[in-house]
Amino acid sequence: MKEKSKELEVAIKAALEAGKVLEKYFETEILKTLKKDKSIATLADKESEEVIKKVIFEAFPEHSILGEETGMNGGVSDYVWHVDPVDGTRNFANAIPLFAVSIALVYKEEIIIGVVYNPSTRSFFYASKGEGAYFNDKRIFVSKDDAKNGMLTVSRGKNVNDEILFRDILYFFPKKHVSSVRDLGCAALDLVYVARGGLEANIQLGLNTYDFAAGVFIILEAGGKVTALDGSPWKFPDNHFIASNGVFHDLLVEEVKKQKQKLNI
Ligand code: IPD
Ligand code: CA
Ligand code: CA
Repeated sequence: MKEKSKELEVAIKAALEAGKVLEKYFETEILKTLKKDKSIATLADKESEEVIKKVIFEAFPEHSILGEETGMNGGVSDYVWHVDPVDGTRNFANAIPLFAVSIALVYKEEIIIGVVYNPSTRSFFYASKGEGAYFNDKRIFVSKDDAKNGMLTVSRGKNVNDEILFRDILYFFPKKHVSSVRDLGCAALDLVYVARGGLEANIQLGLNTYDFAAGVFIILEAGGKVTALDGSPWKFPDNHFIASNGVFHDLLVEEVKKQKQKLNI
């Protein structure tokens, strides 16, 4: 990218600062606490979010920030930052290096910046509207692999029907559609790995905007395709979608439709 906007510079700075917090705690005996929704949080989730908010508010005091740990911060604004201070907390807390900081900037319901950073592998992904997607400052594109060689990941939130469909896709997705289906436990990485060409598709079932906004935007800027589960156009903040390299997207849509009909959901 020739010149980065101030917004992108700030998002990058915030993710790098948050990354330092996560590095400090990673592979230590960090205390895990249970949140109301039964998911876990650690001291690092809270500290990381505070650092990100500080960096963003210093640069853009008039913007608002939706953070997983602290909800909506700041006044009403057309600019809303969607922040997951640690995506993949369970991996992080169990010393598994599949976690990331995820930060997206949304202007009037349109994503314009996305940054995903995994400090444990120093993997930095970012994109800016119309400027392409980058991994450690190198332009990236989705893969050209077809179904035969394809790897798919699937991520779900807390809804019961989403869990039923998630398990069905994970265990019964026909081999002819993808050679491997998995759940990495970090939705933001699922998405940026598609953008970088390491995975071919990710199906998202009911996560929160801070989980997917940055990653899905990075896929779009890397030349990928994103639709609703039934193949109709996807629009932020819809949280059920198929994101892929586009090569066998229609097959994925057809198969998800079939599975949903079979399960009657
Ligand atoms: C989790 C991850 C994971 C998904 C979970 C999310 P968190 O986010 O994105 O991939 O399966 O449903 O809660 O809680 O680690 O930020
Ligand atoms: Ca998350
Ligand atoms: Ca989180």
